[in-house]
Amino acid sequence: MGRPIRLRRSILSVPGNREKMINKARTLPADVIMLDLEDSVPVDQKNRARELIIESLQAARWDGYVVSIRINPMDSPFAYKDLQIVEHCAHILDTIVIPKVNHPCEVKAIDYFLTQIEMNSGVQRGRIGIEASIETAEGMLRVENIAFSSNRLEALVFGVADYATSISAMVKGVSGHGDSEEFYPGHRWHFPLSRMVMAAKAAGLAAIDAPYGNFKDVEGLKRSSQLSAAIGCDGKWAIHPDQIPIINEVYTPSQEDVDRSRKIVDTYELAKAEGKGTVAIDGRMIDSATLRIARNILEKWRAIERKSHMHE
Ligand code: COA
Ligand code: MG
Repeated sequence: MGRPIRLRRSILSVPGNREKMINKARTLPADVIMLDLEDSVPVDQKNRARELIIESLQAARWDGYVVSIRINPMDSPFAYKDLQIVEHCAHILDTIVIPKVNHPCEVKAIDYFLTQIEMNSGVQRGRIGIEASIETAEGMLRVENIAFSSNRLEALVFGVADYATSISAMVKGVSGHGDSEEFYPGHRWHFPLSRMVMAAKAAGLAAIDAPYGNFKDVEGLKRSSQLSAAIGCDGKWAIHPDQIPIINEVYTPSQEDVDRSRKIVDTYELAKAEGKGTVAIDGRMIDSATLRIARNILEKWRAIERKSHMHE
């Protein structure tokens, strides 16, 4: 079964043990709500978070959101217990985020468990997708193999804070994001992020940028979102409600881009009917590569329109 294409401009991470935040999440304009069991939940609260996530997913309506949970890593003592909760919400959950993926076999193992859970819960086989978070040197080294490791995969996610730790990078900005030009000119994470994007896109997956830790710094968040959008990311994690509209705006095509894309698609169709493979619009060359970009923009735009109707 082909995986659904989902709108993933903003992904709000919500600590799974914070009931108030989970309730608030459902009122916010994020495309994806990710209930976390990993790093935002203290060890002695993991059980409480599992119970709360089951309760919240069963009790409330989550229409209009992509809903996911982040489990603990496969080399922790918590991951198998996290997966058990999926049985209770298999019909609501859209994806599982696996953190700190080092090797494709971790994704494959979760894939097998999900198949068993789906068979026991009576939901369609293959319903639940997987997102692999790449946030270690080992994971980045194997990112190509990870990207092709399961038909359930929908996205690769960059985890900048853990990645910075895993390569012993000197950390200046909060979460290693938002460095000043004096410290590092340009985009410090360009290489690993681009590498992850390349692997994701080769495998037909979405590529998601890490959160921006300094949630009071609007300009820094904008800049960080623009940089990742420019190198092929489809969206970015948010850790605070105020970050969502900023990320959504950067990752939404402008009206000008949408109008130009419509013009490109229409003009190219006419040109093709006349046997031409290239055509000029407003002094710029249009070929089939430009056409693919235009079609992607229009597809994203339609998904955004569908979403805004759902929330009206
Ligand atoms: N999801 C849902 N609601 C959130 C939220 C989140 N991630 N972060 C904050 N809120 C809510 C608060 O509960 C508060 O709600 P209220 O106005 O109804 O009382 C409101 O948004 C404003 O929050 P604010 O007071 O500005 O922030 P804070 O000091 O309570 O929390 C953080 C700041 C960073 C601790 C908090 O945003 C957080 O825990 N974020 C998630 C971190 C995370 O998931 N980390 C793991 C992934 S990297
Ligand atoms: Mg992490």
